[in-house]
Amino acid sequence: MKIFIRSIQKDDLTDLKLLEKKVYGSNFSSSQFDLANKIDDLFGYVAIQKGVPFLKTKNKIIGFIKLVHVIDETHVNSFGVDQFFRGISVGEKLLIVSIMKAIEIGSNSCTLEVRESNFNAQNLYSKYRFLKTGIRKNYYSVNRENALIMTVQKINSVEYSEFLSVQIQKMCLRYIPKIDSYYYKISSVRIFLMRIISLFQQFTF
Ligand SMILES: CC(C)(COP(=O)(O)OP(=O)(O)OC[C@H]1O[C@@H](n2cnc3c(N)ncnc32)[C@H](O)[C@@H]1OP(=O)(O)O)[C@@H](O)C(=O)NCCC(=O)NCCS
Repeated sequence: MKIFIRSIQKDDLTDLKLLEKKVYGSNFSSSQFDLANKIDDLFGYVAIQKGVPFLKTKNKIIGFIKLVHVIDETHVNSFGVDQFFRGISVGEKLLIVSIMKAIEIGSNSCTLEVRESNFNAQNLYSKYRFLKTGIRKNYYSVNRENALIMTVQKINSVEYSEFLSVQIQKMCLRYIPKIDSYYYKISSVRIFLMRIISLFQQFTF
């Protein structure tokens, strides 16, 4: 399964609105993409599952993160991953790319609102050093749940860049052991075959 991340494009809007509705389920009230008329309103990223020409499947949007940049702060205002693709670091990759972009365009901090009951998302934000900086009472129109404001400060510091690169390395390393053992097996088979060949050569010459 090949997944890649790219910037949101205008052609993505229809699929994004459908996915946003699906991702939020019964918590969905209105789309953050409804107001996006200009390309500037479409600041963010999508995760795409690459289609397989052989199977005639097309590229499919499986995750998104919508951002707003105001002065020196980047705000995450919609973020989700298709339920079928959760738990395999798609959300984490979208968040990392967004923080990196926020640093590049001069943000000092990154902030968002999250439901008080949404521990999965809060875990992800805490992993990237977002701290609870406030509460908005009855923030969500569906069920009047409170929102926690979570913010990570000083993302443009050397210390945070170092932390981010360590996190990225850790995330990449998660997938390497499988490849390692695969190569290990291949090279063991190769060594075994080379030994047989050399024995055979000794025998015939
Ligand atoms: C929140 C969400 C985007 C996470 O995406 P994801 O691709 O499933 O998350 P990842 O696989 O990248 O996980 C990254 C981290 O998130 C946290 N996390 C994700 N799923 C979790 C779960 N089921 N339980 C606990 N922590 C979880 C963990 O800290 C995890 O890091 P770890 O693997 O080192 O433990 C996804 O669950 C989602 O779309 N939820 C519904 C919409 C939503 O809540 N959006 C956020 C609005 S503020």
